Amino acid sequence: MRRRAPSGNRSSAATSADATDPFHDWNERAAVRGMPSLTDFVLDARGDELSGVRWLAFGAADELLSHPALGDLDLQTRNRLGAARLVHFLDDMALTEHRIVNVAAQRIAENRLRGHDVPEPLALDALKLYTDEGYHAYFTALAVGRIREAFGLAAYEGPSQKITGIEALVAEVPAPRRDMAWFLVGFVGETMVTKAIVDAMRSTAHSALQRLLLAHLEDEWVHARYFAHLFSRVWPTLAAQERADLGELLPRIMGAFHVRDPERIAHTLTDAGVPASARKTVLARQAPEEGQFARARHMGANTLQVMARCGVFRDEAVRGAFVRAGLIDRDGNLQGKSA
Ligand SMILES: [Fe+2]
Ligand SMILES: [Fe+2]
Repeated sequence: MRRRAPSGNRSSAATSADATDPFHDWNERAAVRGMPSLTDFVLDARGDELSGVRWLAFGAADELLSHPALGDLDLQTRNRLGAARLVHFLDDMALTEHRIVNVAAQRIAENRLRGHDVPEPLALDALKLYTDEGYHAYFTALAVGRIREAFGLAAYEGPSQKITGIEALVAEVPAPRRDMAWFLVGFVGETMVTKAIVDAMRSTAHSALQRLLLAHLEDEWVHARYFAHLFSRVWPTLAAQERADLGELLPRIMGAFHVRDPERIAHTLTDAGVPASARKTVLARQAPEEGQFARARHMGANTLQVMARCGVFRDEAVRGAFVRAGLIDRDGNLQGKSA
């Protein structure tokens, strides 16, 4: 996948900027600056006419859709379930951007990491990221509305287990370190999201959806580089005790991004018209925390590599916390395992 070509009308500010700055060509390349048509997502058929079309399915890689109890669904229900699952995925992505990532971006933009080697221009860049996420959330929510409309799916009104869990985790951190905790949440989330988008792209052949996901992915590559760069500056500035405490928080943050949401799963299954017996079988084993670290390891290879590069695992207690969570092996091996 290649990034789209620059518009050719580069501002002098952009050309003179440091090319190692992940946001140096933001004016030309960010989706929010150059791709207003992402709000034109359309589905030109109704759900019934789309039965038999598998472009919304996540396939064998998706934990829910590959559940053995759902193997015998008729094609129409299976297709509807694919749409409902996609809506769940996109809803979760949009919510995470404005409720989680943008809280981290706010903290950085307010320069609350000054004193941790985050100079003002880098803090200012957080507002570019904030703007990107607002646009991603907007065009993603629009697409969700159109998919729901095509399939007659209901909106989910309940809370998100993931969002409330992450907020609760940060609330546990003593107030003086809460800004740093939000930064770490942003770092973890933004270095994991690209894999989630790539996986979603692999599962669909629908061109409008592909286009939307690709535009999002291109921005997220920039965001991942930005957060990885900030992390490499911030981590060495922390005192030993801070590194120990926040280092033990890191695996919990990684896990918190991958809790299951039984209520949301129940809504997805019911909305898709999955028969009660299959629903009951699936929901019998959906404990929120079960498997969360296996999923985090599978999705967080990039995050773990950045941490390793920055020396996070040199601290024995911190390394121990990651090993106990199953995010790295005892010998320090970071190789991802299948969730
Ligand atoms: Fe995003
Ligand atoms: Fe992002």
